[in-house]
Amino acid sequence: MKLLWALAALLLSSWRADATTAGFIKSPLSQMKLINDSAELHCEVIGNPIPEVQWWFIEGEEPNETFTQLFDGARNDSVRINATYIAHATSTIRLTSLSLDDTGTYECRASNDPERNDLRKTPKIKWIRSQANIIVIESPTIITEPTEVSNQTSSILSCNLTDSSLPIKGSYWTHNGKHIEESESDASSPYTIYRLDKITYHSGGLYECVFKTEPPVKETIEVKTLPHVGAYKHSEHGNEMDKGVLTCVAHGHPLPTDWVWFKEEDGTHKGIFNGTGDRYEIKSTPNKTILSINDLSIEKDIGNYICTGTNELGASSDKIYLRVRSRLAALWPFLGIVAEVIILVTIIFIYEKRRKPDEVIDDDDSGSAPLKSNSTTNHKDKNVRQRNSN
Ligand SMILES: *[C@@H]1O[C@H](CO)[C@@H](O)[C@H](O)[C@H]1NC(C)=O
Ligand SMILES: *[C@@H]1O[C@H](CO)[C@@H](O)[C@H](O)[C@H]1NC(C)=O
Ligand SMILES: *[C@@H]1O[C@H](CO)[C@@H](O)[C@H](O)[C@H]1NC(C)=O
Ligand SMILES: *[C@@H]1O[C@H](CO)[C@@H](O)[C@H](O)[C@H]1NC(C)=O
Ligand SMILES: *[C@@H]1O[C@H](CO)[C@@H](O)[C@H](O)[C@H]1NC(C)=O
Ligand SMILES: *[C@@H]1O[C@H](CO)[C@@H](O)[C@H](O)[C@H]1NC(C)=O
Ligand SMILES: *[C@@H]1O[C@H](CO)[C@@H](O)[C@H](O)[C@H]1NC(C)=O
Ligand SMILES: *[C@@H]1O[C@H](CO)[C@@H](O)[C@H](O)[C@H]1NC(C)=O
Repeated sequence: MKLLWALAALLLSSWRADATTAGFIKSPLSQMKLINDSAELHCEVIGNPIPEVQWWFIEGEEPNETFTQLFDGARNDSVRINATYIAHATSTIRLTSLSLDDTGTYECRASNDPERNDLRKTPKIKWIRSQANIIVIESPTIITEPTEVSNQTSSILSCNLTDSSLPIKGSYWTHNGKHIEESESDASSPYTIYRLDKITYHSGGLYECVFKTEPPVKETIEVKTLPHVGAYKHSEHGNEMDKGVLTCVAHGHPLPTDWVWFKEEDGTHKGIFNGTGDRYEIKSTPNKTILSINDLSIEKDIGNYICTGTNELGASSDKIYLRVRSRLAALWPFLGIVAEVIILVTIIFIYEKRRKPDEVIDDDDSGSAPLKSNSTTNHKDKNVRQRNSN
C-alpha cells in the first residue's frame, strides 16, 4: 500500500515537474489605422499543457474600465479569430471595417491552469496578459488635381496631403495597382506629382498617390481613354456548314460598355444582332466579344466583319476577313498529295526506264572519266583541251 502511494506521489511530482506555466513568445503590437482599414493582432504562448488564449477589449480608463471578451464573429462579424493549439498556442484576431469606436486596448490572455475558468476560484490571476492599442483615425484629406483625366493626350497628376499631423517619409505612385518605380521619393513633402507626357490606351486606368505615413494614406485619380479594339486574328476561315468564330478584344480604361458587330455588304454596314436568322450568336464581356456564325455558307458569309467597342468617351473598331471553304475544299489538300505521289512515282518510273541505255555515257561524264584519262589515252575533246592549256 505504501509503495502504491509512493508511486502515485512520484507520478504526480513528475507530472508537476513537466508542467510549465504559460509564457508569451509573441505579443500583439500596437498600431494606428485609418477608418475602414483592417487590423491584425497576433499572440503566441508556450506552456504545458498548451495554454488557452482569449482576446479581450478594454474600454475606458482605470479604475472603471470595462472588459469585453471578443469572439469569432463578434461586432457584427467584423471580428475573426483564428487559433491553433499545436505544440504551442497561436491566436490571431482580425478586425475588419474599423470604425472610430474600435479604438482601444486589446488584450491577449493566456492560461493553462486547470482551474482557470472556474469563476468561484479567487484570485483570478491565473491568466497572463499582453496588451496592444489600436487607434483608428479619420483618413486625412488628399486633394487631387485634376480629379479625373478624360480624353486627353497629356496630363500632370498631383496630390496634396492637407491637414495631417502624420510624419511623411516619402511618396510614390501606382498604376492599376502596380508600383511605378520612377515615382518613388523620400521627400517629406505633402505634395507629389506624376507626369503623363503621352496618354495612350496603355496609360489609362487608376493612378494612386501613396504617402509613406504610418498608416500609409492614398488617393486615386482615374485616367480615361478611348478603348482600343483589336481583332484576335485579322483573317479567319471556316468550312462550309461548320461554325465560324470571330473574336475581338479591347484594352484601355474604361473597357467598352457596348459591343456591336457589322458585316460589310456592297459598301454598307449591316448590323448583326444576337439571334439574327438563328445563325448568329454574340457573346460579349467588357474586354472581349465573340461572334459565332453557325452553318457557314459560301454565298452569304464570306467578307469583312467589323467589331466596334464603345465606352463613355467613344468607339473604336477593327475588321476581320472571313473565308469560307467548300466542304470539298477540305479534301483538296489530300487529293493534291495523292496526285503528287502518283506523278512522282510515274516520273521516277519513266526516268529509271530511260536511264538504263544512257548509263555508260553518264559514267564517262562523271567520276571515272578523269581516272581513265590519266591512265589511258583520252578520246574526249574536253580532256584534250585541258592538256593543251597546261
Ligand atoms: C468604407 O468602405 C465602404 C465599402 O467598402 C464604403 O462604402 C464606405 O464609404 C467607406 N467609408 C469610409 C469612411 O471610407
Ligand atoms: C469612474 O470612477 C470614478 C471614481 O472611481 C467616478 O468618479 C467616475 O464617475 C467614474 N466614471 C465613469 C464614467 O463611470
Ligand atoms: C449590425 O448590423 C446591423 C445591420 O447591418 C445594424 O443595424 C446594427 O446596428 C449593427 N450592430 C453593431 C453593433 O454594429
Ligand atoms: C488560420 O491560421 C492558419 C495558420 O496561420 C492558416 O493556415 C489557416 O488558413 C487560418 N484559417 C483561417 C480560417 O483563417
Ligand atoms: C496644398 O493644399 C494646401 C491647403 O489647401 C494649400 O495651402 C497649398 O498651397 C497646397 N499646396 C500645393 C503645392 O498646391
Ligand atoms: C446572345 O445569346 C446567347 C445565348 O442565348 C447569350 O448567352 C448571350 O449572352 C447573348 N449575347 C448578347 C450580347 O445578348
Ligand atoms: C478580361 O477581364 C477578366 C475579368 O474582368 C480578366 O480576368 C481577364 O484576364 C481579362 N482578359 C483580358 C484578355 O484582358
Ligand atoms: C475625345 O477626343 C476625340 C479626339 O480628340 C474626339 O473626337 C472625341 O469627341 C472626344 N470625346 C469626348 C467624349 O470628348
